[in-house]
Amino acid sequence: MGMKGVVLAAGRGSRLYPMTSALSKEVLPVYDKPMIYYSLATVMLAGIREIMVIANSDNHRILANLLGDGSKWGISICFEVQREPRGIADALLIARRFAGRDKCLLTLGDNILIGPDVGEQMSDAARNVVGSTIFGFQVSNPEQYGIVSLDEFGSPTAIVEKPDSPDSNWAVPGIYFYDSQVFDIAAGLEPSGRGELEISDVNARYLAEGRMTLHCLGKEYSWFDAGTPDRFLDAANYIRNLTESLGRCVMVPEEIAHSEGWISTGHLAQLGRSMLPSSYGNHLLAVSEGKTTSSTSS
Ligand code: DAU
Repeated sequence: MGMKGVVLAAGRGSRLYPMTSALSKEVLPVYDKPMIYYSLATVMLAGIREIMVIANSDNHRILANLLGDGSKWGISICFEVQREPRGIADALLIARRFAGRDKCLLTLGDNILIGPDVGEQMSDAARNVVGSTIFGFQVSNPEQYGIVSLDEFGSPTAIVEKPDSPDSNWAVPGIYFYDSQVFDIAAGLEPSGRGELEISDVNARYLAEGRMTLHCLGKEYSWFDAGTPDRFLDAANYIRNLTESLGRCVMVPEEIAHSEGWISTGHLAQLGRSMLPSSYGNHLLAVSEGKTTSSTSS
């Protein structure tokens, strides 16, 4: 059985108003590319070629204009609309038919994960998921995220959404690998106090069944939930500094597609030429000419 990707991009982006009053957050630039490119790159690094983007009724056209059907990257992208923001786990109900009996990787369109071996982390998780695999990342403001508590041996003991008094600072980034049972779990959820189907309740269920793997990410990783003005700017500054220090673009879907063998070198060059004179276009051309170390993540 295969694995499908689901990218959730249906929020109103209200914490970024007025930036998102007329433009979807996921098309805003994070340094040199639209925000959603990062979560699509994460899904592609997992080796996944069939992706559903869940948008809202205002932004699905603009996202479809930006991404097309995925064929330019050798993948397939389809779109579905979430009419009301009923919660992150609601995305699983929307994607159920698309996923069929496959496993799935659900990512949030405003999450950016960068690290030396993100590609290996993603492809390993995709290959080895039994039940669910989630990640942990240490933060200084744990009351704003889904939080996983750990025992003295580092094993997960509880997952709580935005706890008032967190007993852990390990946040759960919006990158979740699930087996096909997740769709039944999501269907059985009750809305939380804030009226949403919570992804933390899905993860807590896998944990209770002893079918959840947690990978704690160390200081060599950077993770951004770019949904607030500060984190949005932090993410852009981080990508800019990394791009400058490495001397090449990072988390580039076209480059990942090429290194996976999903598009030819000639096609990559054509994509690069179509984006000249941007540095992004130049980067694609340089990769196609073997002039830059091809690295798919960072
Ligand atoms: O960023 C990681 C965190 O994302 C996790 O640690 C939390 O457990 C998880 O609940 C989520 O928390 P947020 O408060 O950041 O969720 P937010 O409501 O901002 O939604 C995250 C993204 O998902 C955002 O891009 C909008 C989109 N979304 C959200 C909801 C609730 C939808 O497309 N539809 C929805 O119904």
